Amino acid sequence: MRVKLRRFREGSFHTEEYSLEDVEGLTVLELLYRIREELDPSLSFRAMCRSSVCGTCTLKINGEHRLACNTRVEGEEILLEPPDVFPPLKDLVVSQDSIPDRLRKAKVWVVPGDREAGPAEVGRISRPRDCILCGVCDSVCPPLIEGKAFGGPLLFTRFYSVFDDPRDGRGEERLGDILPFNVQSCVHCGNCNLFCPKGCMPERWITLTESRLLRGGYISRKEEDFGFLGF
Ligand code: SF4
Ligand code: SF4
Ligand code: FES
Repeated sequence: MRVKLRRFREGSFHTEEYSLEDVEGLTVLELLYRIREELDPSLSFRAMCRSSVCGTCTLKINGEHRLACNTRVEGEEILLEPPDVFPPLKDLVVSQDSIPDRLRKAKVWVVPGDREAGPAEVGRISRPRDCILCGVCDSVCPPLIEGKAFGGPLLFTRFYSVFDDPRDGRGEERLGDILPFNVQSCVHCGNCNLFCPKGCMPERWITLTESRLLRGGYISRKEEDFGFLGF
């Protein structure tokens, strides 16, 4: 198999090619470890759990953003690139500093209130809570790709998992925290839903957050917004 790697070094990208035998059935992450162990010890990439849990191994694989550890190698040729949107640091590694920064600014952590909740109630936030902060959704989000001021699907997914948590004590106050992240910059293209490796459906939580902000009077309906037809 021919493996093309788009590597970032000293301020610019270049593409390197490697040839490997007997790789059918490996994951992309295993392929990268083989390149590093057998051909190029200088290769940098990021990974930890190898099992779709830590969210660190996001790459652009043949043009699609995916987790390297749960994508199988197939065909005669593969192109691996760092994910879009996040600033490149070295080879396939990007800076993910903006993720904790945004979560911190929007105060996305549970502050225990005085309520207890059973599994059924907590279950309603199981989808957004499955988010592993991999950044795939942000990397395929048109407003972020265009550099618009927008919190992004990752932030809104994690926000909703806290906002709708029955055990959280801050409730409606949280709408003020998320307001600066321009929920209405979402164009509802559905890319984030399509590519999220954990099935978190980010666009759903964006839509629900927008409707709560509208109801609370924090924002007004966009002029071009035709409700369910809005895009
Ligand atoms: S919502 Fe999905 S794609 Fe986005 S960061 Fe979370 S797990 Fe990754
Ligand atoms: S639906 Fe919204 S958040 Fe998701 S990728 Fe499209 S513009 Fe971005
Ligand atoms: S290595 Fe942890 S998600 Fe891929």
